Amino acid sequence: MERSVKEHFPLKQYNTFGVEAFAKQYIEIRSEESLARLFAEHPALTQQPLLILGGGSNILFTKDYDGLVIHMNIPGIRHTVSGNTVMVSAGAGVIWNELVWYCVDRQFAGIENLALIPGTVGAAPIQNIGAYGVELQDVFASCRVFDTHRGEFSTFDKEACRFSYRESYFKREAKGRFIITEVTLQLSLKPTFNTSYGAIHAELEKRCITEPTIADIASVVSSIRTDKLPDPSTIGNSGSFFKNPIVPVQYLKQLQSTFPDRNFVFYPAGTDRVKIAAGWLIEQCGWKGKRMGDAGTWKNQALVLVNHGNASGTSIYDLSEQIIADVEAQFGITLEREVNIL
Ligand code: FAD
Ligand code: EPU
Repeated sequence: MERSVKEHFPLKQYNTFGVEAFAKQYIEIRSEESLARLFAEHPALTQQPLLILGGGSNILFTKDYDGLVIHMNIPGIRHTVSGNTVMVSAGAGVIWNELVWYCVDRQFAGIENLALIPGTVGAAPIQNIGAYGVELQDVFASCRVFDTHRGEFSTFDKEACRFSYRESYFKREAKGRFIITEVTLQLSLKPTFNTSYGAIHAELEKRCITEPTIADIASVVSSIRTDKLPDPSTIGNSGSFFKNPIVPVQYLKQLQSTFPDRNFVFYPAGTDRVKIAAGWLIEQCGWKGKRMGDAGTWKNQALVLVNHGNASGTSIYDLSEQIIADVEAQFGITLEREVNIL
C-alpha cells in the first residue's frame, strides 16, 4: 500500500457544496512522476473506481465514494513570448483565478473575462469553462494527460478535446479515463476586449472607464460575479447547476405563442437555434429563492442550487429532480445538469 494513501477520507472540505461524504481512499498528487509511479507500482489501488478531484466546485456527492480519489495538486506556471503571442502553461493544481491574475499582471490578454471562476486549471478543459462571452476553447492550445487505460502520458490539442458549450471529450465519451496534468493556453499581448455582456458595459460606465485595460475587465467581471453569485465559503454551491438549454428557434416561437405574456430570455446559438436562460425558466416555475429543508435555489439566481447549512447531497439532487420535472411540465424542456453527480 502506498504510504500517502489515506483511508475513509472526509470530503466535506473538498467540495464547494459542503456536503458530507467519505472517500474509501484518497491520495494527493503533486507531480507527473508521482502520478505515473502510483499507476505503475500500485495496480490494486488504481484498478478500482477513480475520481479525479480538483477544487470540488463542480461536483455533487450523493453518497460516499467507494474507490480512490486522486486529488490533483500539481503546481507551477511558466510562459514563453514570441512576438505578440504568449504561451502559458500551468499545472493541473494551480487555482484557475491565480492563473488569470498571473496573466493579467503581465498584460497577457485572453482570459480576463474568466476571472474568479472557482476551481483548478486541470478541471478547466473538462467542461470548457466559460463566462461573459469567452470560453476556454477560445484560448486553449493543448493539455498534457495521463491515460489511465494505457498508463502513459500524451498531449491533446484543441481539436482532440472536442469542446462545445460546457462540454468536452473528457466530460462525455472519455469520462474518467484521462487525468489532465498541465494546460497550455495561447494568449496575446494585443488585447481584443470582449465587452459584449451588458453587465460589463454598465459596470465600466459606473467606474467611468472608457478605455479599459485587461486588469479593468478582470476586476469588473470579478465584481459582477461577487454581486450575483453566492460565495461557496459562506453558502455551499457549485455555480450554475444546469446548462442553459439550446432549442430550435421554431420551438421558442411555439412557446412564445403559448405564453404571449411571458418575456422569454434567450440568446442566439447558431443560425436556427437559441439558448434559453435556464435561471429564467426555473424562476417562472416559482423556484427562485425557495428551499426544501436546507437545499434551495439562490435568491438572486435561480440556476444556482445552494446548501443553506446541512443539506445532504441527495436532498440537493432531489430538489434538482423537482425543478427538472416542473420546467418540463410547464415548458416541455428537459434541463440537463451541468454539475457532475457522484
Ligand atoms: P472539480 O469540481 O474538482 O471537478 C469537476 C470535474 O472535472 C469532475 O468530473 C472531475 O473528475 C474532473 N476533473 C477535475 N480535475 C481534473 C483533472 N486534472 N483531470 C481530469 N479530470 C479532472 N463554471 C463555468 O464554466 N463558468 C462559470 O462562470 C462558473 N462559475 C462558478 C461559480 C461558482 C460560485 C462555482 C462554485 C462554480 C462555478 N463554475 C463555473 C463551475 C466550476 O468553477 C468549474 O466547473 C471548474 O472548472 C471546476 O473546477 P474544479 O477544480 O473545482 O473541478
Ligand atoms: N435570469 C432570471 N432569473 C434568474 C436567473 C437568471 O430571469 O433567477 C435571467 C436574467 O434575465 C439574466 C439571464 O437569465 O439576464 C442570464 O442570467 P446570468 O447572466 O446570470 O447568466 P446565466 O445564463 O444564468 C451563465 C453561465 C454562468 C456564467 C454566466 C456569465 C451557464 C449554465 N451558466 O449563467 O456560468 O458565469 O452565464 O457568463 O451557462 C457556471 O457554469 O457554473 C456558471 C456560473
